[in-house]
Amino acid sequence: MKFKTIEWKGNCVRLLDQRRLPRNVRYLDCKNASSVAEAIRTMAIRGAPAIGVAAAMGIALSAKKTRSRQPSVFRQIIEKVCQQMSQTRPTAVNLFWAVDRMKKILDQSLSYGVEETKKRLEEEALRIYGEDLEMNRTIGEYGKSLIQNGDGVLTHCNAGALATAGYGTALGVIRAAWAEGKRFHVFIDETRPLFQGARLTAWELVQERIPGTVLTDNMAGHLMKKGEINIVLVGADRIARNGDTANKIGTYGLAILSKWHHIPFYVAAPTTSLDLSLISGSDIPIEERDAQEVTHFQGKPITPKGINTFNPAFDVTPHSLIRGIITEKGIIRKPFLKELRRIKIG
Ligand code: MRU
Repeated sequence: MKFKTIEWKGNCVRLLDQRRLPRNVRYLDCKNASSVAEAIRTMAIRGAPAIGVAAAMGIALSAKKTRSRQPSVFRQIIEKVCQQMSQTRPTAVNLFWAVDRMKKILDQSLSYGVEETKKRLEEEALRIYGEDLEMNRTIGEYGKSLIQNGDGVLTHCNAGALATAGYGTALGVIRAAWAEGKRFHVFIDETRPLFQGARLTAWELVQERIPGTVLTDNMAGHLMKKGEINIVLVGADRIARNGDTANKIGTYGLAILSKWHHIPFYVAAPTTSLDLSLISGSDIPIEERDAQEVTHFQGKPITPKGINTFNPAFDVTPHSLIRGIITEKGIIRKPFLKELRRIKIG
């Protein structure tokens, strides 16, 4: 990988500022937990697994910089930071999963003293990072057989190295198939309103020299009808126990188009994106973002003043439209209810 999405630097968390890509490759050094939380909220770092890693590192950083030697005060401070991280974005379950892991370490370690707890929190954050990287690579290995030579592969948003600790989920599958010598073409939805496809996925593919074409979000149906798309691969922000999947707004429409055109539609996600506590996708909280993301482009208005807006960041694809979910435990197929339970809790 020619870049690092996120890095633990000991005294700060270094993030590649995704708001500025592809024009500027700038790193942001977050020196405290509040600036990590702000980076997540403002999407300097985004993508479900990446925000989980960032939150964990933010918590470890706050622990490291806390001066108090009093276990009860230390606990209060860290619990407050955990809460702050949990309030940054509501949909990606990886965020809450990572915060819970850090909380567990806090609970298990405090009886050994504050210094020991600081050390263990740092180790846990690095473990979360390392595990995500590893899961992505395994997802790539499992998923690569789904792509054939000559295929047109359609993806939405950015489920790449930028959205994870590195390598990517949907883009990890693409990377692994390419590394194996398969030759194919990637079609990238631009992904309005924040252009994660046009800005980020396209940037990653150009660096890998994997041929890609950016489409506006309304072109997929036309391409599918022409027979140019053989498989659709997307990431996930949260998968309910029945397989219903929340991902970037527009994913649901693509899944319906895929069904109509008999094109296999796959989700690639680590098991950290599974939320077995939710019966179905209708229980997944969907983030609504600022109207300005829709009404403005590069700071300039593109709509008349006074018009209403609607800006959900995610939608939910029903499990019936999903051919399979590519995880680090293998490709999960229907019945999802049984299979997802098996891989998450055995
Ligand atoms: O709003 P974003 O950019 O954080 O949304 C990201 C997505 O929807 C990704 O597809 C998803 O998080 C999977 S990333 C491996």
